[in-house]
Amino acid sequence: MTSSPTLDVTGLSCELGGRALLRDVTLTARAGESLAVTGPSGSGKSTLLALLAGLRPAPAGTVRVCGTDTAALRPAKAAAWRLRTIGFVYQAGELLPELSAVENAALPLLIGGTRRTEAYETAGRLLDELGVGAVADSPAGVLSGGERQRVAVARALSTRPPLILADEPTGALDERATDDVCELLYALPARYGTTVLTVTHNPLVAHRADRRLRLHAGRLTEDRAAEADA
Ligand SMILES: Nc1ncnc2c1ncn2[C@@H]1O[C@H](COP(=O)(O)OP(=O)(O)O)[C@@H](O)[C@H]1O
Ligand SMILES: [Mg+2]
Repeated sequence: MTSSPTLDVTGLSCELGGRALLRDVTLTARAGESLAVTGPSGSGKSTLLALLAGLRPAPAGTVRVCGTDTAALRPAKAAAWRLRTIGFVYQAGELLPELSAVENAALPLLIGGTRRTEAYETAGRLLDELGVGAVADSPAGVLSGGERQRVAVARALSTRPPLILADEPTGALDERATDDVCELLYALPARYGTTVLTVTHNPLVAHRADRRLRLHAGRLTEDRAAEADA
C-alpha cells in the first residue's frame, strides 16, 4: 500500500430534502489516527459516513479512501472493496441475534470468501483479544450491550480494514459500558494500525479521540478548543 492518507475528502457537498446537509467538506485522516465528529441529531453525521463509505454517491466533491476514489469504483467491485477496506460499527451492534458471537464476527470474512475454519479461527482470536472470548459461542441476542459492541468491533476488524467507521457506537449503552467501549475503540489505532472515525453526540466520547471535529450547518470544522483542555 502507498502512503496515501486513509481518508482524503475534498469539496464534499450534499443536499437532502432541499436542505444543504454538507457544504464543501474537506477532511484528511492519516493511518492510525482516531477522529470524532460531533453534531446535533439531524446534522448529517450518518449521511457523512454513508458518503465516506461510498454507500451513497457523493453529489459533489471527491472521497478517497486509501487512495481509491469511491466514485470510480464499479458497482460490481464496490462491495468487495468495501469489505476489505472499511469496518462498520453501529449504535446497538446490529448483530444477527440467533448467530453466535463468533459467527457474527466471522461474517465479513465468510462473505469475502475466506474458508470457514480460517474465518472462525480469526474471529475467535479477535474476540479473545477484545475481551469477549468467553461469550464466543453464545447467541448474540443474549449478550449485554457492552459485549455486543465488542463483538461488533471484532466483526469490523475481521478483514483487517485500514478504516473503521462508527456511527454512535455508544448510543445504546449506559455510562460504564460507554467508557469501556470508548477505551476499546480508541485503542484500535495503536493495537491494529486502524484509522477510526466515530460520529457521536456524546462530548465525552468525542473528547477521547486524537482529533475532534464539529459538523454544524453543513460545515465540518476542527474543534481546537477541545484540544486545548485535553
Ligand atoms: N434519504 C433521505 N431523504 C431526505 N432526507 C433525508 C434522507 N436521509 C436523511 N435525511 C435527513 O437528513 C438529515 C440528516 O440525517 P442524518 O445524516 O441521519 O443525521 P444525524 O446522523 O446527524 O442524526 C435529517 O434531517 C434526515 O431527516
Ligand atoms: Mg445518525
